[in-house]
Amino acid sequence: MRRATLPPELLEQATAPYRPLGNFAWRFARGKLGVDPAFAGLLQRGLLPARARILDIGCGQGLLAALLGSLDGRSAAERHWPADWAAAPAHCQVHGIELMPLDVARARQALTHLGERARFTQGDMCRTDFGQADTVVILDVLHYVSYQAQEDVLRRVKAALTPGGTLLLRVGDASAGLPFKISNWVDAAVTFVRGHRLSRLYCRTLRDWQALLGDLGFTVQAIPMHQGTPFANILLVARLTPPPTA
Ligand SMILES: C[S@@+](CC[C@H](N)C(=O)[O-])C[C@H]1O[C@@H](n2cnc3c(N)ncnc32)[C@H](O)[C@@H]1O
Repeated sequence: MRRATLPPELLEQATAPYRPLGNFAWRFARGKLGVDPAFAGLLQRGLLPARARILDIGCGQGLLAALLGSLDGRSAAERHWPADWAAAPAHCQVHGIELMPLDVARARQALTHLGERARFTQGDMCRTDFGQADTVVILDVLHYVSYQAQEDVLRRVKAALTPGGTLLLRVGDASAGLPFKISNWVDAAVTFVRGHRLSRLYCRTLRDWQALLGDLGFTVQAIPMHQGTPFANILLVARLTPPPTA
């Protein structure tokens, strides 16, 4: 499948709510949504169902909610929707959980117009209630917490998912050599600039991530999600395996 990028009109609509917050929030939104292949990739592949309750763990300033919110109430033609993409996921509700108070403040301020369709909780994913969700999205977040905490979060994600639900988990592949090292250097720099203390990252190889999710009862598909970047990021589409019928 060829690399997806957001059509410029859609990028403009999704990032416009950050404009009143100042240059940093707006430029960050444009840079991330414009360059990171994950957001367009999720839409292109139809991985976010319409009307889904989505839990976005480590949501930053709420970019996924902003993108999905910009799809509501417009026809495909008005959205300049690429003809070869899956149908647009309209009317989704996003609950974002984010550690950094400043990011949560930006998300809330930018997206108040979305009302119940975008709400944000400031908290640590290791302690914050996940509620129920049809789709859980975790993009580049789990490696910040210990291996044991990762496993606990994934167990709680499983319990939070409705039947047939999906976890969309993007991780780095620690066996990928230089691209993985570049991912970590950039991660450390951005993390520092965004006000986190620099601390150890808890990475795993792709094989280990797949085995962990498999042990928890997920069926996993791995999709490279770093096209156009020098990184080694993989999107794991993890679906709950139905229990065997007696
Ligand atoms: C690399 S950023 C990714 C942001 C967003 N998922 C995206 O792809 O645009 C990682 C985010 O996870 C957040 N984060 C890190 N540890 C967290 C924790 N324990 N609980 C909640 N959020 C956390 C960071 O503050 C940051 O916003």
